[in-house]
Parts: sequence; structure tokens; C-alpha cells
Amino acid sequence: MQPNQTHLQAPHLQFHLPAEADTVAFGAAFARALAPGLHIQLRGNLGAGKTALTRAMLQAAGHRGPVRSPTYTLAEPYSVVIGNQRVDVVHFDLYRLASPEEFLDAGFREYFGNDTICIVEWPEKAGPVLPSPDIMILLSIAGQGREIELQALSDQGMQCLNRLTAALTPPTP
Ligand SMILES: Nc1ncnc2c1ncn2[C@@H]1O[C@H](COP(=O)(O)OP(=O)(O)OP(=O)(O)O)[C@@H](O)[C@H]1O
Ligand SMILES: [Mg+2]
Repeated sequence: MQPNQTHLQAPHLQFHLPAEADTVAFGAAFARALAPGLHIQLRGNLGAGKTALTRAMLQAAGHRGPVRSPTYTLAEPYSVVIGNQRVDVVHFDLYRLASPEEFLDAGFREYFGNDTICIVEWPEKAGPVLPSPDIMILLSIAGQGREIELQALSDQGMQCLNRLTAALTPPTP
């Protein structure tokens, strides 16, 4: 039997983002590593930078206009370009989700598992009805800046983080 390469190589990345401009640059690099169908969960306290990172990703992928947390509507759809492909992205903010049942009743599960990229703030509010993510991101306040940790939880997630690592590694002279 072959060893389970997925678990042996699952990337766990950590970076310090000293200022908001670094979040913007990181979001742009991450946007280039995305692929259709990825499900990304964003965890972290109020003000940790979940929406700031999402905004940076969407704008780097060609979205013109504001990106705000969909605090009351809970979900906001976007259409962006990744590579040469137009891709649907749905940004969720589940902070005000009353119960996991509300998530199901709203039909949100239909977005997961097809070609739509789902980015979910406050995933813990949906509890067990939320499908498991490809990538889990944890943001935390660190001094004046932010700390970001990314963990791949599927093959698709691992491939995305490998593309991100390659993009962030400066070429050797
Ligand atoms: N690397 C950084 N260093 C310092 N400040 C940052 C950095 N990245 C983002 N910020 C700032 O942190 C704040 C993050 O706010 P944001 O709305 O993104 O938080 P959030 O995690 O989405 O919170 P909520 O849970 O309320 O939705 C913004 O004021 C933004 O300017
Ligand atoms: Mg937010």
C-alpha cells in the first residue's frame, strides 16, 4: 500500500503581515493560486482581517467596486477571472446566522461542491451543516499587524497552497 502522501505533505503555512498593504499583497498572490470549486474558511476574531483579505483577493481577481461583509444578507456573489477563466465566488459572513437550519433553509449548501469558490467568514456559526473546507485560514492580531496561518485539508487545497508557496518563493538567481 502506498503511504498517504496527502497527509505527509499537507502544507501548513504561516506569515506575518506587518501592515494592511501586506494583506493586500498576500491576497493578490492567493487569488492567483485559486481554482474553481475551492471552499475556504476564514477564522479569527472581530477585526482580525477576514474581510480585508477577501477584498484583496476579489479585487486582485478583477472585481471593480467595494467588497463589504454581507452582514445581513449573509452571502454576496461575485464573478471574477482566475487564470483565463471566469469563476463565480460567493463570500459568506455567517456571524449573524441564527442557526445551522437557517443556512440550510437559505439554500446555501447548493453553492458548495460545484465550480463556485466559497469563502466563509465565521464558519463556526453554521456548525455541522457546513461542508468541510479545502483550506482553513486563521487570522490573528499580532502587534500592529496580523498573523496568517493556512492549512490545506484536501488535495485541492494542498495544490492551491503549493501554487501559493511557489508564487511567494523568489526565484534563485
Ligand atoms: N496586515 C494588517 N496589519 C494591520 N491592520 C490590518 C492588516 N490587515 C488588515 N488590517 C486592518 O484590520 C481591520 C480588519 O477588518 P476586517 O473587517 O477585515 O476584519 P474581519 O476579520 O472581517 O472582522 P469581522 O469578524 O467583524 O467581519 C481593518 O481595519 C484593516 O484595515
Ligand atoms: Mg468581516
